[in-house]
Amino acid sequence: MKQRSRAGRMLPGRWKKFAGFAGLLCGLLAGPGGLVQAGAVEEATLRVAAVGDTGIGERAFHPGFLAVAKAIQAERPDVLLHLGDFVYQPDLFPENCPARYLDEIRRALVAPFRYRIFVPGDNDLPPEPRKPKASGCWAGIAPLMTPADPPAAPGEGEGTWEIGPALFAVVGSFPYRDPTPWLAGRIRQARSLGLWVVLLLHEPPLTTAWFIDKREEALKDLNALEPDLILSGNQHSYERFHPLGVPGPGGELPVTPSPRSIYNRGDGVVHVVSGGGGATFKPFADQQGKQKQTAPPEVFKALHTRALMNHFVLLEINRETLLATTYRVCAGEAAESKDNPRWRPAMPVWEKITLECSGKPKGAEVFDRFEIHNRPEKLSEEK
Ligand SMILES: [Fe+2]
Repeated sequence: MKQRSRAGRMLPGRWKKFAGFAGLLCGLLAGPGGLVQAGAVEEATLRVAAVGDTGIGERAFHPGFLAVAKAIQAERPDVLLHLGDFVYQPDLFPENCPARYLDEIRRALVAPFRYRIFVPGDNDLPPEPRKPKASGCWAGIAPLMTPADPPAAPGEGEGTWEIGPALFAVVGSFPYRDPTPWLAGRIRQARSLGLWVVLLLHEPPLTTAWFIDKREEALKDLNALEPDLILSGNQHSYERFHPLGVPGPGGELPVTPSPRSIYNRGDGVVHVVSGGGGATFKPFADQQGKQKQTAPPEVFKALHTRALMNHFVLLEINRETLLATTYRVCAGEAAESKDNPRWRPAMPVWEKITLECSGKPKGAEVFDRFEIHNRPEKLSEEK
């Protein structure tokens, strides 16, 4: 059930309860004169888990998916963001989506979460000659998510969801179309309410995994909308970039690094590629020696960190701060020796590549963390 604040925003129960308590406390502190000291009441935090490319189906590393799903649930997030590619099934041109896949999605990715925002991936849409093993499960998955805010957006799966202190927006990749005409106004409105803005796509606007130059299209369009964070999937790995501005005419990438990964709102857009939900790992193009798909040096300069690992990202969002923590999730050596997590494991290139979980115990550990603050004056002193 949706709950709305006085400003009309959708609020999870915990957020609403705390906001009510905060309001009462404000009243008490304010006294007859109605003056409240700024910061006297801290608002509750919205907890959001993001995962992509989950290992459901026979063409994936299912133990990795089970470990990630368990680790996400242990964090008890209010919202689940799925960045697309739910199922990897083995048949060519499947005629329907088997009930067992949808049952597992309901159990692991729907039932535990109050709010669910899902992005359609190429493996979820109906099969076609270029993608004959696509599952076609999207028709069964889409009704399982939280309905988008009205009015409807133009593309399949596109839309916005205003939840607590954030606006989430899904932008389609099949095909990608500049979302500015339907999204810019909604972002302006969200900013006027002081909300954070998080965009979600399946295909990354920027990646070193398999580089396709989008500096003149998606990367430019999306960065110009000035969201705080862009999450994408598709690549079966983890990448996090420094905050980026709009690419220059020669493809230059304006970057704002911070040694402690503490940023201010407005430093640029943080891009995170998160496709570590159990799909088999694929080496980065440069590791495979694929020169055409290897990103140019300026893209590597913008990259903060990357890894081949099962993982998820936890966002903790309140009015002041967006804190992102990436958890590496290891299924354990026994699981890896039974079901190989590598894509095409016989490829000789694997002999030179160490997976992030190699030699590490089973379980979830913090791998990466960054934060964005909405208090520039205070942050400039901390940096
Ligand atoms: Fe995928």
